[in-house]
Amino acid sequence: MGTDQTASKLELEDIQSIILRRRPSPYCGCHVLLRIEDASQGRELLRKLSPYVLSAAEYGRQETWMAVVITYQGLVALEVPESSLLSFPAAFRDGMAARASSVGDTGESSPEHWDRPYGTGDIHVGITLLSTTDSIFQASLEKARAVLASLPGITLLVREDFAQTPGARTPFGYKDGISFPNIVGNVVSLIVDDEEPIAAGEFIFGYPGEAGRMLAMPQPALLGRNGTFVSFRKLHSNVAAFRRFLNANATPAMSAELLAAKMVGRWPSGAPLMLAPEQDAPELGSDLQQMNNFTYGQDPKGLRCPIGAHIRRMNPRDTALEVMTNVKIHRIIRHGTSYGPPLPENVLEDDGKERGIFFIFLSAKAPETFEFLKKEWINSGNFLGLGAEEDPIAGAHTGKGMFSIPMKPIRRRLQDLERFTVTRGGEYGFVPSLSALRWLASSPAERATATSSTT
Ligand code: HEM
Repeated sequence: MGTDQTASKLELEDIQSIILRRRPSPYCGCHVLLRIEDASQGRELLRKLSPYVLSAAEYGRQETWMAVVITYQGLVALEVPESSLLSFPAAFRDGMAARASSVGDTGESSPEHWDRPYGTGDIHVGITLLSTTDSIFQASLEKARAVLASLPGITLLVREDFAQTPGARTPFGYKDGISFPNIVGNVVSLIVDDEEPIAAGEFIFGYPGEAGRMLAMPQPALLGRNGTFVSFRKLHSNVAAFRRFLNANATPAMSAELLAAKMVGRWPSGAPLMLAPEQDAPELGSDLQQMNNFTYGQDPKGLRCPIGAHIRRMNPRDTALEVMTNVKIHRIIRHGTSYGPPLPENVLEDDGKERGIFFIFLSAKAPETFEFLKKEWINSGNFLGLGAEEDPIAGAHTGKGMFSIPMKPIRRRLQDLERFTVTRGGEYGFVPSLSALRWLASSPAERATATSSTT
């Protein structure tokens, strides 16, 4: 389609920076989850926060980054009109917990085991605060505390802290946050590969999508335009089990490090197997221009990077798929952050501490795309001709998982993969534009006037 660059001059000053910008590095911060007990104080909260919410145009000029996200229950609590509520997609209205079993959140990942308040319907507003240093973060937190203290009708449910680990590694030990889709008109993010640009409407409402027309957006247009959706997940990493699995399956011909790289598709430094098939190449892993600059075309059988590896499933690029689809409409913007203390190197027993990633997944179809990726590309292998094989690191294995490593003369098939990733909670959110935030912050009468004057 229409990757016409002129069609999408993005209104960067109205789009929240969390959508289009990479995180600062290093970073530390928190997600604050709130419940609105009183509608007018909920609107007051948004009024007070609005000046601090960073746009994609401003990023870089400030040391603190604030993003605001609102759940469906939050829109209800803010007294958004019924006609507008009905314009939101069903998955968003149902909430993530209600859809859990269909995406493999079963057993220990099921909502009855989630950390509270996830899955209760109590989460109305999520605020993300990110700073470059702890002292700046603490100062921003103080300001946020002062806003909350003045609003007794807003309940603080939980504060989830996170920080960039040395080398930007997730708890499993792998660098994250490398891949970033090339979006038409996005002049503000360094794109690290030469993939064909994807129409901006797939990521932000109000612009043409890959089919050449705008996706249906939340109404009124003043609310939907320049906004998007987020899938937020709290994912616990079972690091000890992962390491034990690697040790148990390593052989003289395939070290634990190579085995893990085959599962992820990248080495710990971020260097991709497609460019570094034998061993890690840290210089490549720190070269933003090169580490994402590859396709799978010259590896149709998966001899370098297994077809079922995590990054090859999640973005098959030019891999021939058994179930045909346009890969570009399933791309997402990811801004995961790590939480919890790393498990010290070589420790093979679980220490009972919580660690994992807060997974942030943005797209104009985030609830739908998230559910598609989970059901079709993580919890199944059919699209690659791999039958019931699931994603080796993010699959919902129940101790009976399999993973095929194509090799000459015959492939190796690993058995009995455990569930290395356990869901601790999650929610779908709407990421309003800055003007939509102001609309939401105004009274129902003011909203009606603003809507009628723009139609
Ligand atoms: C705890 C679970 C997970 C871990 C530890 C994990 C880790 C990683 C790592 C290390 C990368 C490579 C870095 C990069 O290319 O940016 C990656 C890439 C990616 N992951 Fe995950 N991931 C997890 C779950 C998920 C889930 C649930 C999804 C989607 C539903 C997902 C989607 C992606 C995508 C789209 C990419 C980029 C692939 C590319 O463009 O090449 N991940 N992940």
